[in-house]
Amino acid sequence: MKNLKIVVTDYIEPDLNWEAAELAKRGLHFLYHQLKFAPLAQVIAATRDADIVIVNMLPVTVELIAGWEKCKLVIRHGVGYDNVDLAALDKAGIPLCYIPDYCVEEVAEQAIALMLACGRKIVSSRKVLEDSSARGRWDFTDVIPIFRIAGRIVGIIGCGRIGSRVYQKLQSFGVNFLICDPYLTEERKRELGIEVVDKETVFRGADFLTIHTPLTHETRHIANAQTLALMKPTAYLINTSRGPMVDDEALAEALRNRLIAGAAIDVYGTEPPPPGYPLFGLPNVILTPHLAWYSEEGGWRIRGLIILEIDRFLAGLPPRYTAKP
Ligand SMILES: NC(=O)c1ccc[n+]([C@@H]2O[C@H](COP(=O)([O-])OP(=O)(O)OC[C@H]3O[C@@H](n4cnc5c(N)ncnc54)[C@H](O)[C@@H]3O)[C@@H](O)[C@H]2O)c1
Repeated sequence: MKNLKIVVTDYIEPDLNWEAAELAKRGLHFLYHQLKFAPLAQVIAATRDADIVIVNMLPVTVELIAGWEKCKLVIRHGVGYDNVDLAALDKAGIPLCYIPDYCVEEVAEQAIALMLACGRKIVSSRKVLEDSSARGRWDFTDVIPIFRIAGRIVGIIGCGRIGSRVYQKLQSFGVNFLICDPYLTEERKRELGIEVVDKETVFRGADFLTIHTPLTHETRHIANAQTLALMKPTAYLINTSRGPMVDDEALAEALRNRLIAGAAIDVYGTEPPPPGYPLFGLPNVILTPHLAWYSEEGGWRIRGLIILEIDRFLAGLPPRYTAKP
């Protein structure tokens, strides 16, 4: 085990000096790279003889896996693992370890922050203030109407770790809920004290609709031209899950035509979104740079949990969370 080689393919921290020091204490060989956009041959060359490969956003494809000589574990630095070809990994007999429990609070906080910012028109209020200042008198036209959030309906699609925290944290806001999660167990529904409805009912009824599902063939473009058309003209769509959950072109069209009041988005199909991203320039959209996961506490928690997973591997224990195709 002492000769174990651990390779990071890409990372978001400023550096991995802390990890290097931790793994040096264990006598492990540790290398880290920024290969997210590198050619496949370069990624293979860097990871060929690794025992453990740690990836952030780098695509783990069948071709990359075929280049590995002795990899025994892939650790995905993060919650989602849609950049990993799970079937190919499974076929190669390599488990995928992911870290779903480091930023539940943060993403729930961000979803609620975006919801409140939309409802209270916080971002556009700044312009109203500056324009009023220049004019020397108040003019609230650009933020009217604002509706009281208490009494409104929050729609939650996906009531897992994050979705259920959004539900719990909003308890004292006096809102009502419409929740869609066809995979929630009866026991979990009882625990949360909720009933579920179908997704069309959520799109139709929600004043704030927040998406918290994993990216699957069922959830890709769950917000599309048809489902957006069901929404109230006063409703807001919030997406902190994965970019492809929303059909960007359809959302841009819905926003331009005022089919819905606005949207708040943290995640994108291509990251960062290219300059031609359809929601750029639309006034009724709040955009954040895929940072819902981030807090100082969360950033350090995931670093500690990844070292914990390496320690578990050294001790012959399975990962705390593995994903199967
Ligand atoms: N923006 C960020 O920084 C950030 C950070 C962490 C996680 N995320 C994303 O947040 C999302 C939720 O993460 P989580 O940890 O709560 O996941 P989770 O697995 O705990 O919960 C997901 C829930 O969605 C439900 N679901 C699955 N398919 C569904 C469908 N078709 N319709 C309705 N519900 C469905 C599941 O039953 C589950 O309860 C993921 O997409 C993850 O990648 C984003």
